[in-house]
Amino acid sequence: MKNIAKRYDISKTFEYNKKNGPFEEIKDRNNEIKKIIGNFGIETELFGFKTNLPIGVAAGSLYSKKYMEGAAKDGFEIITWKTFRSVNRLAHVSKGDFLAHNIVFLPNKSISVNDMDKKIVAQKEFSNNVKNISITNSFGMPSDTPDKWLPDVADLESYAKENDKLVITSVVGTPKIGGDIDDLANDYAFLARAAESAGATVVELNLSCPNVCGAEGTIFRDVENSRIIVKKAKEMLYNSGTKLLIKVGYSDKEHYKKLLESTSRHIDGIVAINTVPMHIVDINGKQALPGGETSGTCGKAILDMSVEAVLNLYNARKELSLQNDIKIIGCGGVTEPEGFIRHLDAGAEFVMCATAALFNPELPLNIAKYLRDKKIQRKI
Ligand SMILES: Cc1cc2nc3c(=O)[nH]c(=O)nc-3n(C[C@H](O)[C@H](O)[C@H](O)COP(=O)(O)O)c2cc1C
Repeated sequence: MKNIAKRYDISKTFEYNKKNGPFEEIKDRNNEIKKIIGNFGIETELFGFKTNLPIGVAAGSLYSKKYMEGAAKDGFEIITWKTFRSVNRLAHVSKGDFLAHNIVFLPNKSISVNDMDKKIVAQKEFSNNVKNISITNSFGMPSDTPDKWLPDVADLESYAKENDKLVITSVVGTPKIGGDIDDLANDYAFLARAAESAGATVVELNLSCPNVCGAEGTIFRDVENSRIIVKKAKEMLYNSGTKLLIKVGYSDKEHYKKLLESTSRHIDGIVAINTVPMHIVDINGKQALPGGETSGTCGKAILDMSVEAVLNLYNARKELSLQNDIKIIGCGGVTEPEGFIRHLDAGAEFVMCATAALFNPELPLNIAKYLRDKKIQRKI
């Protein structure tokens, strides 16, 4: 089972992996990748950052400075911190068949919108090719308090400058008991400002984690609440050059249009999509992972849905003539080079992966080889 346990041991908790992983010495592949790609590649510029290999890591797979630097060494050009909160939060704890797991594997099958009510039986073992890997995870967005993570954010910004990488800092507000949308927006705004004060130049507001029981998981579905949050966060930023992104889940064009209409004035880009919530069970039919009734599915299984979402977003942006204002970062199901190309063809300006960053970290190298072999030379 090549690569499977090297970055993340699925039989252990999130906290164990965060503390001890990644479980291998990571070789710096950047020079090798540059040589392979040569003059081929997809020339892109995102917020002043230029590359001809627009592949990055989305929020969720990189838990510490060690993980972040490891992904940069793998050749990922943009690296995103796992989402931070303003409060301390431990990961969900699983019982039963998947004791201590926060991640389990899924069968090799594509998921469509029509499947979302169906149950899928999870697996502890993975024997297929890592290029087809799919998983489900339920962490619940665990976090340290800002006094612990802000120094790491500052360190990573320096590391990224020295190594020609771009860092995105992802944050999420935490609803207070009895609190309202303004309280939640203030928490998001505080986090955006705190990240910026530590040196972050791109801040991502996560409006879409399906693995939390609170309201922060589905905000992007409520266009007015989304507007309140992004407006407040933008107002609180000190530097007008700091870029603000939102992370959203799967949706249709009409909803993305409404979301863009209400938020585009305050943001610079959208990352789509987050994991797809599904009912994942053990062999006895019991809910596999803790948290809400569903857990987020990701990896190859959601490629079709993710590409469809990027296309919906692209068309929504076009109909609103916002091409010059809003960047689309495609994410979901990219575990091999063909998936990367499909996101770009659907209209993404940059592509990210989360599952592959843990289970197939040779992805940037493989994309470079693919672009060279197919002699692909394009500009976005
Ligand atoms: C282990 C894991 C943890 C994740 N945690 C977060 C998170 O904290 N914040 C977030 O916005 N998305 C999170 N995600 C979602 C990913 O950023 C991404 O949107 C989703 O997994 C689809 O990409 P993939 O198919 O390449 O995994 C997580 C994904 C994985 C695999």
